[in-house]
This record gives sequence, structure tokens and C-alpha cells, in this order.
Amino acid sequence: MMNTARDIPPPASDDWAAALPPSLSESARAQAARRHAAHAPALHAALGRLYGDLPGHNSWLADLMRDVGALHAARPAALRALDAAREMQPDWFCAPDMLGYCCYADRFGGTLRGVADRVDYLAELGVRYLHLLPFLRARSGDNDGGFAVASFDEVEPALGSNADLEQLCARLRGAGISLCADLVLNHVADDHPWARGAAAGDAALRDYFHVLPSGADVARHEATLNQVFPLAAPGNFTHVPAMGGWVWTTFYPYQWDLNYRNPQVFASMMLALLKLANRGIEVFRLDSIAYLWKREGGNCMNEPEVHLVLQAMRALVAIAAPGVLLKAEAIVPTAALPAYFGNAAGPTCQLAYHSTLMAAGWAALAEQDSALLRAVIAATPALPPAASWLTYVRCHDDIGWRILLPEAGAQPRLDAVARFFTGADGAYPRGVPFQAGASGAPAATNGMAAALAGIDPQRAPEVQRDALARMLLVYGLALAFGGLPVLYMGDELGMGNDPRFDSAGNDDTRWVQRPPMDESRLAERQDNGTVAGRMFNALRGMAAVRASLPALAAHAPRRLLPCADPAVLAFERGARFLFIANFSGREALLNAAEIGAPEDRKLAPWSMMWLQRRPRKDGTGDGLELLNTAWEVR
Ligand code: GLC
Repeated sequence: MMNTARDIPPPASDDWAAALPPSLSESARAQAARRHAAHAPALHAALGRLYGDLPGHNSWLADLMRDVGALHAARPAALRALDAAREMQPDWFCAPDMLGYCCYADRFGGTLRGVADRVDYLAELGVRYLHLLPFLRARSGDNDGGFAVASFDEVEPALGSNADLEQLCARLRGAGISLCADLVLNHVADDHPWARGAAAGDAALRDYFHVLPSGADVARHEATLNQVFPLAAPGNFTHVPAMGGWVWTTFYPYQWDLNYRNPQVFASMMLALLKLANRGIEVFRLDSIAYLWKREGGNCMNEPEVHLVLQAMRALVAIAAPGVLLKAEAIVPTAALPAYFGNAAGPTCQLAYHSTLMAAGWAALAEQDSALLRAVIAATPALPPAASWLTYVRCHDDIGWRILLPEAGAQPRLDAVARFFTGADGAYPRGVPFQAGASGAPAATNGMAAALAGIDPQRAPEVQRDALARMLLVYGLALAFGGLPVLYMGDELGMGNDPRFDSAGNDDTRWVQRPPMDESRLAERQDNGTVAGRMFNALRGMAAVRASLPALAAHAPRRLLPCADPAVLAFERGARFLFIANFSGREALLNAAEIGAPEDRKLAPWSMMWLQRRPRKDGTGDGLELLNTAWEVR
């Protein structure tokens, strides 16, 4: 059973024409054949390496392709049209006017219908991509904010129905907004039918999971594994008497990791994806993708087989639903990130979170020094074609500092950053620690961006101004870096930590950054005398400027500029755009040569400049035009 990746794939083939239902028209058949011819080699190669040694591989593949063919044929006309359009323009999401928004459906709109009622608000912000956090039927009781999925075929009843989902997708599509949904593919809830069946003794379903027979096996595996939630959910295994052993549970004990060595798991998940795609979901956030493949003796992250699974998924999507994008949620060190876009064997995800850029942005504020950011940026290679980073400032999860270890060099440096964000020694942040690190410092930080930047209505106006500037600084980086920037719900209104959150008895402090939409702030968004209004108009203004600048498209080249002042981060995009930011609370000095300006410039504390080189009217070379006026808060 425990086959390993092979270098030379055994021959595999599938009869795609026979797999397609007879109902499909001649032209649709020809189109499907063309897509298959283009992508089957990558599909067969990846599946061959993963599963080719298993008995019955070709008949398994034929079954899979018949199911895929049926789903392809069932794809609604509007989505087929989208497929064709996106095949013509595969980098459509790399444009500078792509702006994302991420929220929980209930906190944003109550239900999926309520979310549909907020489409005008999203359009007002300029949003083109909406990531709704998990909305499929979740485990009853605790469910990790919906990340313990009990059914991939049903919407969570409290949020609506499948019909509501389809209507929401259509409404969003009409407004030019693509819906992104989580595909929680590393694990299922312990009340998912696969888990229930396995616990009831179904041998085929038992093989959907990893079950270790003894405590000694567990100890051997634990020796090389990390722990994701050492306080909230210690260990990686859960003893389940009905399973007669220890079930692999990387996250919460009720989230059972799936066994991707079993090809049926791959096939089941792929069909779940394609069914959801047929309801209108355009982007899948591949949750916890780095953990997908297990190998005893390692930390079970970023194993080579993860990339083979992704290669096969991408090829199947390219055949059956080519308008769909895959997004990697791999919260891993910088060096491990680019592999999620694919390799010479084929492309995989079109989008990947730039998690170390996000963490380094906050760390730069803490250190008042841009060194970590510069190191992350220097280690970030150019994007492959039709792929983009997802840039962000906050999300529903913690900021885990460990991913910056290669750049930081030593743990104590990151511990100091973590302590800083808890507001230690009178520091401005209002973050909440998450998970103890080995040194006793928190391994991670929670809190809304506004709280981490120090926005606090109780503070004096000039202190508040600095906090607003800090928040715009990290957002400015996300917007200028080169990727698809995503706003986290509430940030556009400067919303702080959830006042209802009580850390007593709740080790999962991530809930502090999951407040409901603040309706009063929403109503204040046009009032520049309020924090909500200033933040809303500043971010909207910044996004609008960005949308007009081809140099801020994902693929426009980026070049770090050397600066003598360690607090300053400066980079060029394209030939004419300059991003210059001061990550410190003191004035920074930019000398003329560094930025190619006629004279030295000063940069106010926590401020940033977006500059554009333009030929001077009098023909005396280039001048630097400041683009900030759209969002200045000082
Ligand atoms: C991802 C999610 C996180 C969840 C975990 C397990 O990291 O973002 O919220 O707890 O996966 O599904």
C-alpha cells in the first residue's frame, strides 16, 4: 500500500471520448478533446507517479474520468462561457484592478442571501474577488470556524441552501466578482460520512484515514512532527476507540486527516471540487495544502507528493472546468512557497498566499527596520506566467512568526516581535498571544490589523494618526508588491478586536479577529472625521490609484533599491513606479541618488510614498510625481 513517488511514470491512459456522456454536442466534444490532449500528459504523469504501482490503476483512472466527464457535461452554459473566456486570457486575475475581500458569510451578511445584498458595497470598494470563509455544512458543535466539513455537497443550513449559493455566484459574476471558497482537503469532520463509515467498520472508508495501531507508533511519528495548535489542540493524533487506534489529526481532534496514498481519496476530493465549481465557485482555496502527504520520519509538510497531487488536480481542472483557479494556502517559509505554482512538470496553483511577506511587514513595524522585509523580497523569485501572489495584511488566522526563521536567523528575534505585538512594555499594539513557543514567548499573534497597528479610539488624535499611517503602510505594501491584494473584512473600516472575545477558557485566540461587521462604522464610511471614514476612503483611494497603474500588475518586474536608512524599504515596479516606505517612528532620510531624485527627501514617521517617474515638461529629464494624495491621512 505504501507506494512512493516514482521517477519514471508507468504508462497510463484513459479513453476520454468514451468517458464523455453521449448528450454532449459535437463542438463541446471537440473542445473537450482539445483540452484533454493538452493536459492529459501532465495528469497521467502525476497520477502515475502517485498511484501507478497500485493494482487496477488504469481502471481506477477510467472510472475517475467517467465521473469527471459527467461533471464536465453538466457544467452550466454560463460557466462554459467563462471557461472559454479565461482560456483566452489565462492571466486575467493578474491585472492591477484585481482587489480581493475576505470574510465569514455570517459576519458579513448573516446568510448567503445577506452576502448577495452586500454586493453593491463590495463594488463600491472596487472588489473583484470575494473569499467567503467556509460555508459548507460543518460539524455540529465545535467546528474550527467551519474548517471541519461534514458535507461537501451541502451549504451549512444556517447560511442557506445550494440554490442560494448558485444565486450568489451568479449575482457576483454579474458584478465582475469571482467567488473563492475553501476546499478543506486535508481533513474532514469526524461526523462526515467518510469518518462515520470508517468508525462503523467500513474497511474501504477506513483507508480514507491514517490510523496508527499503538501509542508507540504515535510517539515515533510525533518525534519529527510539529504541532499546529500546541495549546488549543496538542499532538497530531487522537485515540478513537471505534477505529481501534490513533487517527491522524494535525489540527483539532475532530478534524481527521485524509490519506492521499489512497487514490479514492484523491478522486472523491476532485469530484467534490468539480461539483462545487459547477455551482459557480471560481477559485478554490486549498486549505492547509502543505500537510496533505505524510511520510514517517519527516515533518510532513511540503512533501514532493503534495506537488504531484496539485499537478494532477490542476490538469483535471484544466480539462473539465478551465475557468477555475487553485489557490495554495501554504503557510511556510519563503523558500518553500514558489513550488506551489508548479515546476517544469507542469503548473499547479495559480495563486499562493505570500505569508512571509505578510509576517515580515508586521515584523518591520515592530523592529522599526525593514531588514526582514528586504530579505523576504530578495528571496521571492519572479512569478511564472499566469500566476500571482495573494498579498494580504490580516486574515482569520494567527500570524505565526516561525515562518520567518530563515530570514530572522534566530528565534529570540522573533520572540521579541511576538512580545511586542502583545503590547509588552507599553508598546502600541493590542494583539493577543497565540500558542506558547519553546522559549515561552507566544509563537503567534492574533488581533485585527487595527489593533496591531495601535488604532484605539481612547488614544489621542495624533497617536491615532500614527496608527492609521501604520495600517496604511502594511496595506500599501500589499497593494504595491505585485499580486492580488485581499482586504480582510473590517480592515477597510479600521475595525478593532472583537469586543465579545474572552480569552478566559478559550485557547483559540484566533476568534478575536472574527468580529461581526460593525454597522455603525459602515454607516460612517463617508465621514472623514471618523476612523472608519478615513480608513475606508484611504484604502479605496489607494486601490483606485493602483488600478490605474500597469506597473502594479502582478507580473511587472520588481527591483529592491538599496537604501542607507535601515527603516526604509524601497523598490521599483516596472521602469517608472517607486514604492518607498518608512517603517519607523522617526523621520527617515532618502538621499537623492538612492531614489534617482534631484534632491534628498524626508519621509515622515510610518509613512510611504508611491512615486511615478514622468518626463518633465521642460525636457530636463524625469521628475517624480507623488501619487499619495488619494489616501493621505496626515
Ligand atoms: C487553515 C485555516 C485555519 C484552520 C486550518 C485547519 O489553516 O485557515 O483556520 O484552522 O486550516 O483547517
